[in-house]
Amino acid sequence: MKLYLRLLKFLKPHLKYLLPAIFFMVLYAVMTGFSVTMIVPFTKVVFYSEEKVVDSTQTKEKDSFSKQPESLVVLLPKYLKNKVNGFLKGKTKVDILKRLCIFILIVFFIKNIFWYLQSFLVVKAEEGVIMDIRNRLYSHYHSLPLEYFHGKKTGVLISRITNDINLVRGAVGNGFAMLLRQSFLVLVFLFLVFWAAWKLALLAFLILPPSLFLINKLAMKLRVKSTLVQTKMGTMTSVLQETVSGIRVVKAFAMEKFEIKKFMDATKDYFRTMVKLIRIGSLGPPLTEYLGVIVGVLILWFGGKSILGGGGLTPDRFFLFLFAMFSLMDPIKKVSQTNIDIQQGLASAKRIFEVLDTEPKIKSPPHPKRMDGFRDKIEFKDVCFAYEGTKEVLHKINLEVKNGEIVALVGPSGAGKSTLVDLLARFYDPAFGKIEIDRIDLKVLDITSLRNLLGIVTQETILFNDTVWNNIAYGYNGAKEEEVYSAARAANAHEFILKMTNGYQTLIGDRGVKLSGGERQRLAIARAIFKNPQILIFDEATSALDSESERSVQDAIDRLMKGRTTFVIAHRLSTVKNADKIVVMDKGRIVQMGNHNSLINQEGLYKKLYQMQFKM
Ligand SMILES: Nc1ncnc2c1ncn2[C@@H]1O[C@H](COP(=O)(O)OP(=O)(O)OP(=O)(O)O)[C@@H](O)[C@H]1O
Ligand SMILES: [Mg+2]
Repeated sequence: MKLYLRLLKFLKPHLKYLLPAIFFMVLYAVMTGFSVTMIVPFTKVVFYSEEKVVDSTQTKEKDSFSKQPESLVVLLPKYLKNKVNGFLKGKTKVDILKRLCIFILIVFFIKNIFWYLQSFLVVKAEEGVIMDIRNRLYSHYHSLPLEYFHGKKTGVLISRITNDINLVRGAVGNGFAMLLRQSFLVLVFLFLVFWAAWKLALLAFLILPPSLFLINKLAMKLRVKSTLVQTKMGTMTSVLQETVSGIRVVKAFAMEKFEIKKFMDATKDYFRTMVKLIRIGSLGPPLTEYLGVIVGVLILWFGGKSILGGGGLTPDRFFLFLFAMFSLMDPIKKVSQTNIDIQQGLASAKRIFEVLDTEPKIKSPPHPKRMDGFRDKIEFKDVCFAYEGTKEVLHKINLEVKNGEIVALVGPSGAGKSTLVDLLARFYDPAFGKIEIDRIDLKVLDITSLRNLLGIVTQETILFNDTVWNNIAYGYNGAKEEEVYSAARAANAHEFILKMTNGYQTLIGDRGVKLSGGERQRLAIARAIFKNPQILIFDEATSALDSESERSVQDAIDRLMKGRTTFVIAHRLSTVKNADKIVVMDKGRIVQMGNHNSLINQEGLYKKLYQMQFKM
C-alpha cells in the first residue's frame, strides 16, 4: 500500500488532467447507470398489457406514466425527471417505443462522449507519469558511480527502464484510471441493485467477500511470479546485448552455436516462468465469472420464487435488478483484472524504487567548492583503494604532480595504473588516504567542476553512434569549425576524416564499429583535445596506432602537453622517455620514481622493462 501511494505521488503534477478526467468518469458512470435503468420503461412497454400502459382515462394514463419511468428517475433531479417523462409520453405503445428508442440513442451517445472525454484527458496523466518515472530513473543512473554499473548486468539495467516501466503503467497509468472508472461504475450499479431489490442484493453480497478473498490470493501469487519474469527478461536482454556488442568475437571464435544455446536457455527459462505466470493469471477471469454465475443462479432462484409467490417483487424491478447485477459483473471483473495488473506493476515499481533509492556514493558534498582552474599541484596522500569485494589494488600511493608536469605511469599489467587515474577523476573514492588538488580534498569539490578540468582518453576507446563531428565536439552545441578541425588535426585525424564518405558528418556506427582501431583512438584523442582541459590523461592512448601514426600523434600530444599537466600511461616505454617524472608501479605500489636517465641507471623494474623492450 505504501508502495502504491508512493507511486501515486507521481500523479501529482498531472492533476490538472486527472481531476477533470475523474469528473467525466463520474458522469460516465452515472450515465451508464442511467442507461441500464432504461430496461424498466422498455419492459413495461413491451411486456405489460396495453391497458396498463396506455389507459383510456386521462388520470390513469397520467398515473401510469408518472410511474412508468420511475427507475429512470432515481438518478435525476425533479426538473429533468419531468422533462424525461414528458418526452416519453405517447399515444400508442408503438409511439412510446419509438420515443424510447430515440431516447436510448441519445443517452448512449452522451455516455460515450463522456467516456471519450475522460479517456482523452486521462491519457495525458498516465503517459506523463510514465515519462516522469522513466526520466527520473535515467537521470538517476547518471548519478550512480561506475561501481554500480560494474556490479550489474547491462540487460537488467535496460530492463528497468523498458519492461519494468511498462509494467508500472499497468499500476499507475491504465491501472489507476481503470480502477477509478470501474469503481465508479461499481458504485452506481451497487446503488441500482440495492435500490431495485435490497434483499436479493444482500444475498448476493454474502457470496462476494469469499470470492474476493480468492482473487486476492491469486494476485499475491502473481506478484511473486512477475518479479521472476522480469529477472529472466533481464538475463535474456543481457545475453542479447553481449552478443550484439561482441558479435565480432563470437564470429571469430565460431561460437554462434554456443551463444545461440546460451540464448535459448535464457528464453526457455523465460518461457517456463511466463507460462506459469499466464496460467495463474488465466485463472482469474474464469474464476471470477463462475463465481458470478453462482451468484446469478441463486438470485434467479430466489428472485423468481419471490415473484411467482407474490413476495412483493415486481417483474420490472426484478429486471432492473438483474440488469444492474449483470452490468455490475463487468466492472468487478475488470477491477479484479486491474488488481492483477496493479500487483504486477507494484512488483516492478519496487525494483524501480530500489534503483531510485540507491544513494549515489560518489557525489558532490552539499556545499561543494568549485574549481575554476588548476594552479599549483595534485597530491596523492597515502592512498589505498580496493574495488568492492577485491583485495587492495592500490597501496599507500604518495605522489605529487606539479602544474605543467608530464607524469608517466608505467608498470606491468594489473599494477593499478588505470585505477590510479580513475581515482583522480573521482570515479571511485580512496578507501584510505586522500587526493588533493591545490590542497583541496577531491571529496569537497563539485564533481562537475573537477571533471571539467580533465580530458581523458581511456584505455578502452568508447565512441557514440553519432557523427564524427558530434563525437569530437561531444556535448557541445554550436562548436566552431576551426575548433573541431584543429582538435582533429592535433590528433592526426583530420585527413582520414575528410576521406570518409560524408566527412565530419559521417555516422560511425555503434561504438564506432565502422572505424579502424587506430582511427577510433585518434577520434578519442581529438575529443579530449577539443575539450581543451588543463589536465590531460592518456591511458594507452596510442596503443592501437602503427609506429608512424604513433609518432605523429605523439608529436601532437607532446605539443599539447605544453602548459598542461599530463598523465600518460603507456606500455611502450619509448613514448614516455621525455616525461618529467616516471612513476613505476607494481602490484598496486609505487616501486620507483624519477626521470628516464636516473631510472635507467639504477637496478630495478624500470631498467628490466626497458631492457626487455629494447633487448639491450
Ligand atoms: N571494476 C573492477 N572491479 C574489480 N577489480 C578491478 C576492476 N577494475 C580493475 N580491477 C583490478 O584492479 C587491478 C588493477 O587494475 P588496473 O586496470 O588499474 O591495472 P592497469 O595497471 O591499468 O593494467 P593494464 O596495464 O593492463 O591496463 C587489477 O588486478 C584488476 O583485476
Ligand atoms: Mg589500465
